[in-house]
Amino acid sequence: MTGNITLTMVKPMAVKKGYIGPILAKINEAGFKIIAMKYTKLSLDQAKKFYEVHKERPFYNDLVNFMSSGPIVTAILEKENAVESYRNFIGATNPANAEPGTIRALYGTDLEKNAVHGSDSDENAIIESDFFFSKVERY
Ligand code: RTP
Ligand code: MG
Repeated sequence: MTGNITLTMVKPMAVKKGYIGPILAKINEAGFKIIAMKYTKLSLDQAKKFYEVHKERPFYNDLVNFMSSGPIVTAILEKENAVESYRNFIGATNPANAEPGTIRALYGTDLEKNAVHGSDSDENAIIESDFFFSKVERY
C-alpha cells in the first residue's frame, strides 16, 4: 500500500541527551507502528550517501559530519499517510519555528541538531527504508 510507511532517525544529539525513550513513547502515542528498528551509527560515507540529495547545499558537509558523529536510532514507521502525518508530528525543520508540542520543539537543539529525521515523500521513504533495513528485519 503506497503512503503507509516513513523512515525516521533519532539524530545523534537527541540520543546523547537521553531522548530515545521519550521520543519513542510519543511515536507510539501518536499511533505510528514500529515495523523495523535499530540502534546504529552512520559512517561518514553512509551519511554522505543518505543525504546525497543535499550535496550541493551549503550545510551538506556540516550535516554529514554531525549525522556520523554518534549513534542514532532508526525505524520504519507505519501509519495511514505516514510521510505527511509524521512530518506534521515532528514539526518544522528549525525547532525555533516548530509548533509547541512537536518532537522538534520539545527535543530539538537547533536547526541542524533538530532531534529527528522524517522522510519527505513516499518514494524517499522506500529508498531510505531500504538503505537501513533488509526484508527479514521488518515485522
Ligand atoms: P530531515 O530531512 O532531517 O527530516 O529534515 P527536513 O526534511 O525538515 O529538512 P531538509 O531540508 O531535508 O534538511 C535536512 C537536514 O539538514 C539540516 N539543515 N541544516 N544549516 C541549515 O541551513 C540547514 N538546513 C537544513 C537539518 O538538520 C535538516 O533536518
Ligand atoms: Mg528532509
